[in-house]
Amino acid sequence: MRRLRRRRVLPLFTETHLRTDQLIAPLFVDEGASGPTPIASMPGQYRYPIEGVAAVATRLAQAGIRSVLLFGIPTTKDAAATAAWDHDGVVQQAVRRIRASVPGLVIITDVCACEYTETGQCGIVGECADGGPDLLNDPSLALMQRIAVSHARAGADIVAPSCMLDGMVRAIREGLDDAGFEETLIMSYSSKFASALYGPFREAADSGCQCGDRTTYQISPANRREALAESRLDAEEGADVLMVKPAGPYLDVLVDVRELGLPVAAYQVSGEYAMIRAAAANGWLDERAAALESLLAIRRAGADMIITYYAEDAARWLAEGA
Ligand code: PBG
Ligand code: ZN
Repeated sequence: MRRLRRRRVLPLFTETHLRTDQLIAPLFVDEGASGPTPIASMPGQYRYPIEGVAAVATRLAQAGIRSVLLFGIPTTKDAAATAAWDHDGVVQQAVRRIRASVPGLVIITDVCACEYTETGQCGIVGECADGGPDLLNDPSLALMQRIAVSHARAGADIVAPSCMLDGMVRAIREGLDDAGFEETLIMSYSSKFASALYGPFREAADSGCQCGDRTTYQISPANRREALAESRLDAEEGADVLMVKPAGPYLDVLVDVRELGLPVAAYQVSGEYAMIRAAAANGWLDERAAALESLLAIRRAGADMIITYYAEDAARWLAEGA
């Protein structure tokens, strides 16, 4: 085996390749920001004002990145998340600007309500059986349809529902088709775990839960078979792309979901980014090597595409011949 390894520079012997065009860059658009605002929990990441997104998208495209995933931070929140499906909402405006300035970029939008509700819950909240707050399933489906259609109308190529409601993909597919957006794709956050690794994101997107938690809709980290069942249901409901989230600690789930035959995305989440970033800042890890290894491992397990806060850095490292 060592004879082979000494020749491993030969691409013939490399089983897995990491390319910039497999990376999706998340982008936080902040309706209230007047300039790029650093995100303390995610050093190196920013919230951008609506006026700034076209320039960022242009920069990413020039680095070879083909796709962005948009998150909006609105200036107003209410129980019905009305700002989430406003024609002039923060994401809708950002989509139109990016579409106009970088026509070829694949625009994906996060479809969820947690940035738009006062509770920070992912949809319409009511009382659950034991009296605590709980996400209401069917009333929230209508909300997701509205959000998805408004994103499609603004020009999104792909809508990415992340709320883990039952029937979410079917409802959105019907909503899109009824509104004439038969060609808009759905990338479902199909196997999304109730993970501690979303902590930095909730500060970035101002989407922290003000009541309860998300364990009645996100999957327990203990459950591999349930995660596969969730992705299978979303495939049956008409998802075009499936997703596993987080990525690095859930590579076994990626292996399973890949078997369903649809394209698979993996989301290397904020906590995965923050861990590498913080260790590197302390001089404990070689950031470039650790970040690229983490991405390559996600590809090796079966992800076709990776949503990662390292997208821009990785593009640069790969261009440098890493
Ligand atoms: C919201 C959403 C979350 C993430 C993406 N969409 C947070 C959550 O579910 O609490 C996490 C992304 C990250 O941590 O990088 N539905
Ligand atoms: Zn949410």
